[in-house]
Amino acid sequence: MLDTFHSPAISTQTQPQPAPMPQTQGWPLLGSLPHLLKNPFAFMVQARERYGDIYKLNLGVTNVVVLNHPQHAQTVLRDRAHHFRKGGPMWDMVRNLLGNGLVVSEGDFWLRQRRMMQPQFHRQRLAALTEMMVQAIDEAYDSWQDAAANNQPFNMAQGFNHVTMRVIVRTLFGTGLNQDEMNKVAEAMTFALDYLMTGIFVGALPAWVPVPGKKRFQEAIADFDKIIYRIIAQCRAGDGEQNHLLQMLLDTVDDETGEQMSDQQLRDEVATLFLAGYETTSIALTWTFAYLGQHPDCMAKLQAEVDEVLQGRQPTLADLMKMPYTRMVLQETMRLRPPSWWLPREVTTDEEIDGYHLPAGTQVVSLTYMYHRHPDHWADPEQFDPERFAEENSAKRHKYAWVPFGAGQRLCIGRDFALMEGQLALAMAVQRFQMQPVNKAMPKPVLSSTLRPKGGFPIHLTPRT
Ligand code: HEM
Repeated sequence: MLDTFHSPAISTQTQPQPAPMPQTQGWPLLGSLPHLLKNPFAFMVQARERYGDIYKLNLGVTNVVVLNHPQHAQTVLRDRAHHFRKGGPMWDMVRNLLGNGLVVSEGDFWLRQRRMMQPQFHRQRLAALTEMMVQAIDEAYDSWQDAAANNQPFNMAQGFNHVTMRVIVRTLFGTGLNQDEMNKVAEAMTFALDYLMTGIFVGALPAWVPVPGKKRFQEAIADFDKIIYRIIAQCRAGDGEQNHLLQMLLDTVDDETGEQMSDQQLRDEVATLFLAGYETTSIALTWTFAYLGQHPDCMAKLQAEVDEVLQGRQPTLADLMKMPYTRMVLQETMRLRPPSWWLPREVTTDEEIDGYHLPAGTQVVSLTYMYHRHPDHWADPEQFDPERFAEENSAKRHKYAWVPFGAGQRLCIGRDFALMEGQLALAMAVQRFQMQPVNKAMPKPVLSSTLRPKGGFPIHLTPRT
């Protein structure tokens, strides 16, 4: 009886089909691309309001599923991360640059590398790097002093690139890289990062297609490799300082397999740490001053905290705990302007999110930029307010509403490094300089693989007495 009742052959009822996922409107062939490119970040906010927390972004010849709710971060980055790999055009481009480095490797190989590298990023290990960081930051600020002395507009984005570049070079290689090599490495990496964005649109083209910039990209990698292999050889020979990250990676032995890293693997990991760690931190610092320029009350509070704790001397690791407002200012800036504003993934096994079916092969974008301003989790989301990160205000927040460093097992390995560097650089900058933005309006963010301010951030810099 039951069987007959359920038999599809005699059923007159059709099964209710799930509603199709909302899709952005657009032009034939181009889809929403023209709208997206015109004003990308306003587009994303409007698209969420119009289509909801999950929608298909119509890019004409292709489309991607866009995720906007903190719960999605939990699903894709943690709970079911094994069904969302780092696949798709952008990651393929990154692989061209980083080989099998930690950001892009997967499976057992990734696990082995993470196991070997993790201890170098523990807080106690980082403590040993604090002094190096402070010294590198201080030297970089000496070069800012010239701009401060002649009162010329100073591009803070470039200034912070210089600071974070110095920090990563010093902590990775000690004093093993000369100024000329440092500039070459910086130039190669900056070009490569820009070029990566092209990958999203041209990645699917065959290798022989003459994509603009492709040759320069290959040259940039060759320049970078030459310098890195030289310095690896120098370290293997035991020349120079021994207390930098490269030496630590070189000496590391995997507990489970007894293996060490090959030159090729070291090169990939060094390139990875470099690429992942230098521009992101610089962007976070630049936006911090852009917001402080709009909020003199926050700047005054920050200066007061720094002056009271440091009393004019250089910061130590212990001081960072005593400067909570410095940390809160950084956290709030990274909420509104997360340097890694989107994380692309590819579905490996048929999945379902919010009742929508995502077949294997679907391209998904985990949109940090939107998790950080979701109206259910952030009151008045566009308002800059560091107090949101005071302990009493953060306790009840969704765990994945603030994820500038990603989440789950692929959480940024350099998180504590970046927060420590950011806090030190911020405190030391307000200690030494007074800053006045050249333009009244906030800079606009540019659509790139990272969230940079358009045109940098010009300021007038004067020394603080
Ligand atoms: C404000 C600064 C930084 C931001 C916003 C940031 C953000 C991120 C994010 C979002 C991820 C996850 C990517 C994904 O899941 O697809 C990540 C991974 C990673 N980051 Fe960072 N990062 C920063 C600084 C650094 C620094 C300073 C280093 C190293 C010195 C670093 C090294 C890495 C590495 C190696 C990974 C890959 C980890 C893995 O997959 O196991 N990052 N970062």
